[in-house]
Amino acid sequence: MSRLIAASPAAILEAAATIREGRLVAFPTETVYGLGANALDGKAVAKIFEAKGRPAFNPLISHVLDEAQAAEFGVMNDMAREIAEAFWPGPLTLLLPRRDDCKASDLVSAGLPTIALRAPAHKTARALIEVAGVPIAAPSANKSGEISPTTPLHVKESLGDAVDMIVADGPCTVGLESTVLDLTGDAPVIVRAGSITAEDIAAVIGKPVPYDIDAKEAPRSPGQLLKHYAPHVPLRMNAIDLLPGEALLAFGSDKFMGIKGGGSAASLPDEMRLNLSEGYDLHEAAANLFRMMRALDKPGCKGIAVMAIPHEGVGIAINDRLRRAAAGANLPG
Ligand code: TXA
Ligand code: MG
Repeated sequence: MSRLIAASPAAILEAAATIREGRLVAFPTETVYGLGANALDGKAVAKIFEAKGRPAFNPLISHVLDEAQAAEFGVMNDMAREIAEAFWPGPLTLLLPRRDDCKASDLVSAGLPTIALRAPAHKTARALIEVAGVPIAAPSANKSGEISPTTPLHVKESLGDAVDMIVADGPCTVGLESTVLDLTGDAPVIVRAGSITAEDIAAVIGKPVPYDIDAKEAPRSPGQLLKHYAPHVPLRMNAIDLLPGEALLAFGSDKFMGIKGGGSAASLPDEMRLNLSEGYDLHEAAANLFRMMRALDKPGCKGIAVMAIPHEGVGIAINDRLRRAAAGANLPG
C-alpha cells in the first residue's frame, strides 16, 4: 500500500531514507507533484519508468538544491549561471550538456548527452533533497499521458500502489509543469512553456528567447512527442457557446455563454461549470487548470468546452496544455 503522510520533519526523514533505499516517493513542488527516486541509482530510476508506464526514450528532470549542486552534473557556462541565479530556486528547468564525470544514472538522460536540472522552490521538496543528500529524479507523479497531479489525492488516484510513499503538502501554487529552457545549443530556446515566460528570461539575458514547443517528429525534447495532459472526454478550446451535455471551463465572465438549442451556462449544475479565474488572472488560471480539468473529466459529461485564454505570458503555457488535451488521440503516446 502506498502511504500518504503529511509533510513534517519526521515524514521528511522517512521519505529521504526511502529515496536512499532506492524506492519511490511522491513529493510536492511548487509546479506539480513529482515521483522521486535517487538520480544516482539506475535501478531506482528504472522504477519510475515502470510505475508511470513511461516510454524509456523520455528523459527525466533531476532536482537539486542549487546552482552548485547542478554544476556537479551539468556543464554550466556563464549564461547558465546567470539564468540560474535569476530564477532558482523556482519553476525553471535547464537542459545542459552532461559533464564527463556526471554521476547521475544514464537513464535520467534516456541515453542523451544532456541532462535536465531544476532547483525547486517548495520548502518540502528542498528539505527532501537536502536530507536525502542526492539529486532526486522526478517526473510528474501521474501515469504517462495523464494530467499532472497538483494535489496529493491526484497522485493517489493516478499511481495507487505503484508509489511507496506520498508526502502530502496541499495544492501546488503554480499548477503547471516547469518551463524547460534548452541551453545545449548556440542560443537558448524554450522547449516547454511554463509560468516563467520568454519575456522573463529575455529580461535577464538581454536578448529575445524563442519558443519551440510544438509537437513534431524530431523534437528537441522527447516530451514534445507525447500526447500529454489528456482528459478522457473530448476538450474544445476557444468555445463561444456550449453543446448540449458539455461542461464549461470558463475564464472571466461567462455571462454571455449560451447552450446551442437553448439555455445558458448559468443553468448548468455547479459541478459542470467551473471558472479558471473570474478576475481574468492568468496565474490563478494556471494554478486551477489541472484540478478543474480533472473535476470536469467525468463520464456524465460529453465534453469540456474551454473559453479563450489570452495567448500572452503564462497564457502561452496554458494554451499549450489545452492544445495537447484537445488533440488527444491525434498525437502519439
Ligand atoms: O515542474 C516540473 O517540471 C515537474 C516537477 C516534478 O519538477 N516535472 C516534470 O517532469 O514535469 P516530466 O518528466 O513530466 O517532464 C520533463 C520534461 C519532458 O518533456 C522531457 O522530455 C524533458 O523534460 N526532458 C528531460 N530531460 C531532457 C533532456 N535531457 N533533453 C531533452 N528534454 C528533456
Ligand atoms: Mg509529466
